[in-house]
Amino acid sequence: MSDKATLTYGGKSYDFPVVVGTEHERAVDISKLRAESGLITLDDGYANTGSCASSITFIDGEQGILRYRGYPIEELAQHSTFPETAYLLMFGELPNATQLMEFRGLLTEHQFIHENMRHHFEGFPSDAPPMAILSAMINAAGCFEPALVELERSDHFMQSAARLLSKVRTIAAASYRKSMGLPINYPRYDLSYTANFLYLMFCMPNMPCEPEPELVRALDVVFILHADHEQNCSTSTVRMVASSQAGMFASAAAGVCALWGPLHGGANMAVVEMLEQIHQSGESVESFVSRVKSAHAKLMGFGHRVYKNFDPRAKIIKRACDQVLAKLGVRDPLLELALRLEEVALRDEYFIERKLYPNVDFYSGIIMRAAKIPLGMFPVLFAIGRMPGWIANWREVRSNAKARIYRPRQVYTGPTQRTYVPLAERK
Ligand code: ACO
Repeated sequence: MSDKATLTYGGKSYDFPVVVGTEHERAVDISKLRAESGLITLDDGYANTGSCASSITFIDGEQGILRYRGYPIEELAQHSTFPETAYLLMFGELPNATQLMEFRGLLTEHQFIHENMRHHFEGFPSDAPPMAILSAMINAAGCFEPALVELERSDHFMQSAARLLSKVRTIAAASYRKSMGLPINYPRYDLSYTANFLYLMFCMPNMPCEPEPELVRALDVVFILHADHEQNCSTSTVRMVASSQAGMFASAAAGVCALWGPLHGGANMAVVEMLEQIHQSGESVESFVSRVKSAHAKLMGFGHRVYKNFDPRAKIIKRACDQVLAKLGVRDPLLELALRLEEVALRDEYFIERKLYPNVDFYSGIIMRAAKIPLGMFPVLFAIGRMPGWIANWREVRSNAKARIYRPRQVYTGPTQRTYVPLAERK
């Protein structure tokens, strides 16, 4: 195997080292390309660009493999819990019993938001998008936290990470309660991370209320499946912001904004909207798929930049979806529609030749509907789930002594130099 790649341009040859990852993926290290040849690379959408070396998550899009710190997603979804998976991502190893107990203790200790922050929610219009509130409130919460995380001290990093991870759930639920004109609940010390989230969202202080264990487990699996996904749009954003040496809360707030769009974290919402639209119109699935194709539009919840075979998370979530609906005795016509849509699309040449398969968002919305999560909150749940990945990536950037600020180049295509024309002389 060659350990260098040669580029020939303008009658000259340039050698570049080929770096090999632990899973044998190879990359040409072009960091000296411009200095040596005057050229840069152009890769719109970064589909062929490795923006960093990372030891957090491995994906093989052709084989449908996803591993956090080496552990297959299937095993984590089956055996782990969200706090344990978060610990694994952020610290690199599964915790032992004492470590997990301490970490859970920190999540409980830091689950409250500062009392002054409760008033911040009043400043938003009642129909403000929950992702806007989440991003703003994470930044606001950062104002009450130590600005400097002492990364060389793992206890200090753990404190900050636990604060962010714990508070994001409290903020998310509070934004929903405010929008509904309901009292904001205080988190409970005796509930797990995910049970507490459901309690904060739905329980009333004047009634006994315990979140349903089936829903708690299903949502925990949703969080685990979303916990990291290497260099996606929002995680790359977090790394970009972190590279300027911005703090953990500010970088995560930027991640929320990047996640917001319908091509990323907003897709789970778009899937349910699409299914509702088909259901209400009474259109057949075949006709809907045909319209998508002829308009060259997108079937929401299908396709992925990296997975070109299947998304391993989609398989797990489909099963979790079936189980939770069966256990709760819920019959959701949208699930039946989703199954039919999947069947039709997977048989269709258009989708086959483009290697388009259901992604994790195709079924996650059905679970959230079963949990009575309102549509606008779907991406917020994605953000809660993705928080450990963002924190782990933030740490990786900030603790790399050789890290430089992220600063891509561009190929300029605008006008060449022009002379300023005074206003009176312009046509
Ligand atoms: N439905 C129909 N056609 C599609 C879809 C889709 N969902 N996704 C891609 N295609 C088509 C494109 O139109 C294109 O066709 P063409 O070659 O004839 O022009 C071809 O497949 C390649 O698609 P790209 O746009 O190049 O794929 P890209 O890697 O840039 O985008 C993305 C990936 C954003 C996920 C895209 O598939 C999409 O928009 N899917 C729907 C939204 C969605 O589900 N997003 C969630 C992503 S997963 C996540 O964030 C957790």
